[in-house]
Amino acid sequence: MSSQIDHLLDETRKFPPSEDFVAQTISSPELYERAAADREAFWGEQSRELLHWHKPFTRVLDWSAPPFAKWFDDGELNVAYNCLDRHVEAGNGDRVALHWEGEPGDSRTITYAELTDEVKRVANVLTDLGVGHGDRVAIYLPMIPEAIASMLAVARLGAIHSVVFGGFSADSLRARIDDAGAKVVITADGGYRKGRVSALKPAVDQALSDRGDGEQQTVEHVLVVQRGGNDVDWVEGRDVWWHEAVPAASAEHTAQAFPSENPLYILYTSGTTGKPKGILHTSGGYLTQAAYSHKYVFDLHPETDVFWCTADIGWVTGHSYVAYGPLANGATQVLYEGTPDSPHPGRWWEIIEKYKVSIFYTAPTAIRSFMKIGRAVPQKFDLSSLRLLGSVGEPINPEAWMWYREVIGGNKAPIVDTWWQTETGAIMVSALPGVTATKPGSAQVPLPGISIDVVDEQGAEVGNGNGGLLVITEPWPSMLRGIWGDPERYKETYWEKFEDQGYYFAGDGARLDEDGDLWLLGRVDDVMNVSGHRLSTAEIESSLVAHEATAEAAVVGASDETTGQAVVAFVIVKESYLAEHDPAGLAQLLRLWVGEQIGAIARPRDVYIVGELPKTRSGKIMRRLLRDVAEGREVGDTTTLADTAVMSIISAQVK
Ligand code: WTA
Repeated sequence: MSSQIDHLLDETRKFPPSEDFVAQTISSPELYERAAADREAFWGEQSRELLHWHKPFTRVLDWSAPPFAKWFDDGELNVAYNCLDRHVEAGNGDRVALHWEGEPGDSRTITYAELTDEVKRVANVLTDLGVGHGDRVAIYLPMIPEAIASMLAVARLGAIHSVVFGGFSADSLRARIDDAGAKVVITADGGYRKGRVSALKPAVDQALSDRGDGEQQTVEHVLVVQRGGNDVDWVEGRDVWWHEAVPAASAEHTAQAFPSENPLYILYTSGTTGKPKGILHTSGGYLTQAAYSHKYVFDLHPETDVFWCTADIGWVTGHSYVAYGPLANGATQVLYEGTPDSPHPGRWWEIIEKYKVSIFYTAPTAIRSFMKIGRAVPQKFDLSSLRLLGSVGEPINPEAWMWYREVIGGNKAPIVDTWWQTETGAIMVSALPGVTATKPGSAQVPLPGISIDVVDEQGAEVGNGNGGLLVITEPWPSMLRGIWGDPERYKETYWEKFEDQGYYFAGDGARLDEDGDLWLLGRVDDVMNVSGHRLSTAEIESSLVAHEATAEAAVVGASDETTGQAVVAFVIVKESYLAEHDPAGLAQLLRLWVGEQIGAIARPRDVYIVGELPKTRSGKIMRRLLRDVAEGREVGDTTTLADTAVMSIISAQVK
């Protein structure tokens, strides 16, 4: 990390937007001025301009009981109506909402009128299955149009969705279904990944059946999309085929208005403890900022642009920039089911050429893996339709930024590096592409209406030229409203550290350069960022110690050229296990175990079997020292260890 930071400090290149870009941009410096003049009035204006309110709000923000905010709280709206019906009513029903591309090469084009019709039918089916206002629905689907339709149908009913990434295991799925108390699960038989069908329904069956004594089962029905064509088990009375129920349902459905603070979704994310947190987002404020940021950060021209965000709907980026932002703005977008290299390494570029994608939003880890393969692959395709590029999920190193600019953006498309989190709901820090001169590796400036600072451990501003902790100093419309079922944890995790100042603590380190631009420096807590996915060290450690071989485990995120960070585990094996088993192959076994327990994304890159772990006298594991070993560095200061010889033993064992 430190070498990367030194390197970042040397970066001085700047790229102002071209004259052509400025001539057509929808944004202007005036946005910053308006927001600065009266922040709340600004958000009120944005919300009225971008959304349809069934009942207009009269109050923008209620911050009388911090950290629990209410935005636009006496207003009423329907989120799905805002994403669908109103575009059809405005005469844009024939506009393409989704250019969907399946991994095997099948495709579907779905207009706003068609998507509206489908969502109304699904809403009727869900109503028949007993889903009503406030009920929770888990969604465990591949990247198919039905995934978007499901989210919107749940939203239409004023119910709450919890999308679970399709790569998560049955155990992870069960934990999420149980925590939310879901009434219905929407899944598919399977979906295509890496050239073959990857089954999903068996994980749902397992999540719902594998129960200990006395555990309550909340799920009443499972709605199943047929996609993979793989054989599935069927529970009569519980399971319902989508292709039977949805076409048979009525396409008449009137969207009812719900209060602005009606919960919209729960999305689980990793924190510093083993238990994932259910981040809760609500309706009016969330949709306002999702639409606002999507419009201005991506300089959206909905009549002509083709937008493509490559994120899976299982992550927050897929919620805000595949589902809600683009649809609220009436944009045309690409949705792709599969992996970037199936069936060939140019698949993404082929899709950009095919649909003439003009705005492309992806993660640095993807860019770095394309860099590795080389520019010859993208250069085989016509990427000239691209006029704007975005990056999200982790710090983008200047080399990857420059490659993205030159090879993908043809040296003309501005790059917006967008910083935000599951908790923030929408983009918080980013250049405005028609206004800001961009800098490789810097996320740069808070969006108009957003207040961010960098402070020291005591909460004092560090000022330009210095590093510290990123904080959000004023409430924002799409902020999380809490952690599902755990208001105390919400306060502790985000608000306690800077309680006196009333700042939200993001968990990220950052630096302000001499111009006051922000450079993100990675997490300062025990959260890792692997390929832009958040993983907690504690969660993987608890999975490792759940294996019969493991006595103790410590996990660190070590820097990795392609994935940003990689999971590296240090494991002490039980004597009793060694007495009866051959330790060869155990490391591999444990890697696969974690993959099965949590999901393939959590599988450690390396598992080292060691005899000891470095601990302080109070018994706290010093992960910093393990990170030194994992990154092949000289081991740092060991004087606070209970046994200072431990690190040389571990280093020898790792070699
Ligand atoms: C990191 C993803 C640097 C950061 C939207 C944050 C970034 C965490 C950037 C949230 C960026 C996200 N530059 N770091 N542009 N974007 N991060 O909840 O550490 O999956 O706290 O949300 O990703 O990850 P999450």
